This record gives sequence, C-alpha cells and structure tokens, in this order.
Amino acid sequence: MPPEIVHLPHNEIPTAWYNVLADMPTPMAPPLNPGTGKPLNPDELAPIFPRALIEQEMSGERWIPIPEEVREMYKIWRPTPLVRATRLEKALKTNCRIYFKNESISPAGSHKLNTAIAQAYYNKQEGVRRVTTETGAGQWGSSMAFACQAFGLDCTVYMVKSSYHQKPYRRSLMHIWGGEVFASPSDRTQSGRDILAKMPDTPGSLGMAIAEAVEDAAQHEDTKYTLGSVLNHVIHHQSIIGLETKRQLELLGETPDTLIGCVGGGSNFGGFALPFLPEKLARKDLRIVAVEPSACPSLTKGAYAYDYGDTAKLTPLLKMFTLGLNFVPAGIHAGGLRYHGTAPIVAHAADLGLIESTSYTQNAVFEGALQFARTEGFVPAPETSHAVRAAIDEARKNDGKCIVFCYSGHGHFDMTAYDAHLAGRLEDYEHPEEAIEASLKHLPKVP
Ligand SMILES: Cc1ncc(COP(=O)(O)O)c(C=O)c1O
Repeated sequence: MPPEIVHLPHNEIPTAWYNVLADMPTPMAPPLNPGTGKPLNPDELAPIFPRALIEQEMSGERWIPIPEEVREMYKIWRPTPLVRATRLEKALKTNCRIYFKNESISPAGSHKLNTAIAQAYYNKQEGVRRVTTETGAGQWGSSMAFACQAFGLDCTVYMVKSSYHQKPYRRSLMHIWGGEVFASPSDRTQSGRDILAKMPDTPGSLGMAIAEAVEDAAQHEDTKYTLGSVLNHVIHHQSIIGLETKRQLELLGETPDTLIGCVGGGSNFGGFALPFLPEKLARKDLRIVAVEPSACPSLTKGAYAYDYGDTAKLTPLLKMFTLGLNFVPAGIHAGGLRYHGTAPIVAHAADLGLIESTSYTQNAVFEGALQFARTEGFVPAPETSHAVRAAIDEARKNDGKCIVFCYSGHGHFDMTAYDAHLAGRLEDYEHPEEAIEASLKHLPKVP
C-alpha cells in the first residue's frame, strides 16, 4: 500500500519558478497597446507594476529565481502535501488512483498566497507604499492583505459586490490582516461611478473591480496594482504547485494520466498543470483538463480573441478565450470563477490542443464537493469543487488511471453556499448562447 500522503521538507521548496513559455511549441500572441494595436512596450506597464514583475511578465527564460525572503515566507505552509484520496476512491468503487495537491493549508486558505507573497515582496523592494487589487471570492484579497501585512505595505481591495455581501467573513479576514475593503462598483473611482450610473443594481464583476483597482493605482504615485490571476508572472509564481507535485509523484513512483484544475483566470490550473508540459509534449496520452462553471464558460464557449481584462478598458489587450468584457455572469457561489477571460498562457495551451476543457453547473459541483467532504473530510471552496467534481467523474470511468487534481482552497467561508445547496435552493445556471454571441459582438477591433 503506498503512503496516503507525501510531505516534502522545507529544503525541497523549489528555488526557481518555471516559465512554461520557454517550452511552448510556438510563441504566444503578445499583449497589445489598445491605442496603437502594436505589441506593448514594457514601459507602458510601469505606472501600475514594479519593474521586476514587468520583467517577469515579458520574460522568455525557463527559470526565474525565487528570492530567499519569499522562500522564507513560503516555509509558513509550503511545501504543501500531496494526498491520496483513498476514502473517496473506496466510496466510488474505482480502480483509479486519485491524488490531490492540498493548497488550502496556506494561512489565507488557497493557492493565491503563492503569488501574493511574491508580488508584495517585489513592490516593497521598489519602494511602493500601498497596493490596490480586486477580489471575487475574497480568497485573493485576503491573500494580498496578509502578504502586505508580512512586507509592511498598505492594501486596498475592491471586492465584487455580490461576494462582498455573500462572504462577510472573507472581508473580516482582510481587516484582520490590515487591509481596507470596498464593495465594487464603488463611488471611489470614476470607472465605479460610471458603472453605477448605468447599472445601479449590478452584482459587480471581476472586470469592474479590476478597472477600479487599476484606476486607483494609476492615479497615486506611491501605489501600484496587483492581480491575482491571468497575467504571465502570476502563472509563473503558481508553478511552485506543479513543481512540488512532480517531485511528490516521483517519490511515489507514479506517472499521472490525468491532471485536473478549476479555471477562473487560470492561475491554479496553469501553475499546477503546465509544469507538466514537457511530459505532455512527450506523451500525447497525458490529459490536462480545465474545469469551469457553465455560468461562465470562457474556455468551453468563448472566442479566442484579443480583449480587455477590465470593463473600463484600462488594461492592455490580451489574447485569451473570452466571453467579452461586458459579460456579467450570474451570481454563482464560485465567485472566483466569474471572470470573462482566461490567462493568455492557458488560452495559448488550449489553442494548441495541449489542454482540454469541460464545464459544470452549480448543483453538480456541490454534489461532488459533499461526496469529497464526507469521505476525505476537507470541505472544498466552491471554485475548487469544480476540480473535485471532474476528478470524481474521471474516476468513475474505472480505467485504472492515476488522476491528480489541484485542491486550490478550502470552503470554510462558503457555508451560505453549502447551506443553499443542502436546502435545495441553489439555482443551476447555464449562460445562454445568444447572450454570449451578443457579448462577443463588442470585442475590440485589432488591426
Ligand atoms: C480557491 C480558489 N480556486 C480557484 C480560483 C480561481 O482562480 P484561478 O483560476 O486564478 O486559480 C479562486 C479565485 O478566487 C479561488 O479562490
């Protein structure tokens, strides 16, 4: 019987992040300046990001050294365990082996802290006093609040209005770690005021909150912006998940057949699965599966096109699978998956056919989450539950495969969602094709 859990010692925390772009079969489409339609000049990002992160964003180097101060902070919770879900396997009566990489044990409860720590570190190094950011589910905002606390920075979080009200305790966590939090759209920024004038009752969206956070940073000399997903440097930082997983599988003598992760902006999925790209290129039968909500199906139903990352059109144009920046998804409980686009790196991998994607409605996701919680004990975040559900369905095929999924976060602040599911009050929502088509008509024209 193999061990059920693999812990690595502190000295096995990787010393460099992996940049998958170095191994992609073809180059990725560059970010564009929306005004000129030309590839972005790194200097154009300087008002909102520190120099070191801009370099990482543009880098083609395979390895990016992890600063010692960041590795020291990682020691609080890393390396994270790789766990064999034997009780779940038994309940499913499957002959597949299911493993999960448990990122939920970070102080903030998810993988988001991996990049929050790195981003806070580089901002501090370059003399920044305050950072702004947006948050959907609150996982990212709380991670950033803790990272700022750790490196002595002020932190302002624009939290998507629906989550702000659904998840008051995520807000409390941000306050505990010294952050300030505003429901977005807010009246603190011009973009927020413009949205409120047009849509006073909007539940908000990540695109709207990003617009507010970018505007706030661009207008204050001592302030920069941080993003919890989508951008290349975030995916690079998250590669620590996949690098550790590879080592842990090696120690077990396991070769994965199927790797699964949920996708919002794409950071836990990209960080977990894309370090396996060299294996995927060598072994076509290795499957890498991205899971998203049917209510926000960017990879499964979106267009691969240049689009803005935010509703106020303040960000560069990124080539991604997108539902259109005006797309406002239903207020599903997986708030962190309510984003209209995907990381360009993940989109590029999807376009090359290196990854596949699937989607689920909320109740199916929560059924999977309950089965997991009742066997393995851990209660997954609604976002994470998408990966859990897909792993269960893969294992039901009963084909003796080794399935590994990213357990991106816990759901301890998501009890309202669990209560609603248990009471049969959770609505399934599939975004209508016509609404997607209508939204895609407004994609920016690229010369
Ligand atoms: C626990 C958890 N998993 C996944 C996600 C989705 O983000 P990403 O696709 O960047 O990993 C979020 C976003 O908030 C999250 O909180």
